[in-house]
Amino acid sequence: MPKFVYQLMEVLYTALEVRNLTARLKNEAGRLGFVPTMGALHEGHLELVRQAKSENSVVVCSIFVNPAQFNNPEDLERYPRTLEKDSELLRSVGCDILFVPSVMEMYPSPLDLRIDFGMLETVMEGAFRPGHFNGVGIVVAKLFNIVQPDRAYFGQKDLQQTAIIKSLIRNLSYPVELRICPTVREPDGLAMSSRNVRLTPEERKLAPEIYRILTECKMSLQKNTPVKQAIEDALAEFARLPAFRTEYLELADTATLTPADTLRAEGNNALCVAVRLGKVRLIDNLVF
Ligand code: PAF
Repeated sequence: MPKFVYQLMEVLYTALEVRNLTARLKNEAGRLGFVPTMGALHEGHLELVRQAKSENSVVVCSIFVNPAQFNNPEDLERYPRTLEKDSELLRSVGCDILFVPSVMEMYPSPLDLRIDFGMLETVMEGAFRPGHFNGVGIVVAKLFNIVQPDRAYFGQKDLQQTAIIKSLIRNLSYPVELRICPTVREPDGLAMSSRNVRLTPEERKLAPEIYRILTECKMSLQKNTPVKQAIEDALAEFARLPAFRTEYLELADTATLTPADTLRAEGNNALCVAVRLGKVRLIDNLVF
């Protein structure tokens, strides 16, 4: 049973209010941890908050469904929005401040800046979701400027996103420590995602196949099956399940996230996948 720590949580809607409050709290209370989200929270998000809570005196979360990172308008429209439930969950894990800006608050004028993340934009998610990482980079930069956190928490499930944030922090000299937390899975192995609620019951039953096939592929690679062969075998497994459409399945080097044709040293291999299951796009990865 989770431990409930119901307490006061300040809900703020403007950047100015957040800036004023966090500046004061940082002075008075010490370290500030930040968990940016798009809401529709699940256990994976709550773990990020718990981790932030254990390492900082103040925890700020944001909920903002960022239009700039959706390359598909239908995906944006269908993105689950569950603010009331989310606020309750955040309260239950001890979040101190919740920032819920409107689109006008974040983008008062049309966005006319582009951040080019180079190679990272051309592989995997970058290749399949043009403009996505530009939108992520911009919103996270804006949120860092508003919240001014000491540490920021992201899940390993969005592995390429963590590389984008690393690049943002390094290139723009943000005084923010990036904390990456392990992917939280359902008991049947499915990686938790806000999109899982959009799966039909039949699709939900099939969804754990993603983790099963990834795990099998990882074990095959560890037994020295050539990379090309192991990937082909895994793709063939997906092809046997007509509900799935694989967008990519790649072994990547964790340092660059570019495709690796041979196994790297322990800890430097990322097996990454994106599939469509019905109308829902799901991603997952294993680092080993
Ligand atoms: O991972 C997400 O939910 C989003 O990409 C983020 C980091 C909150 C930026 O909108």
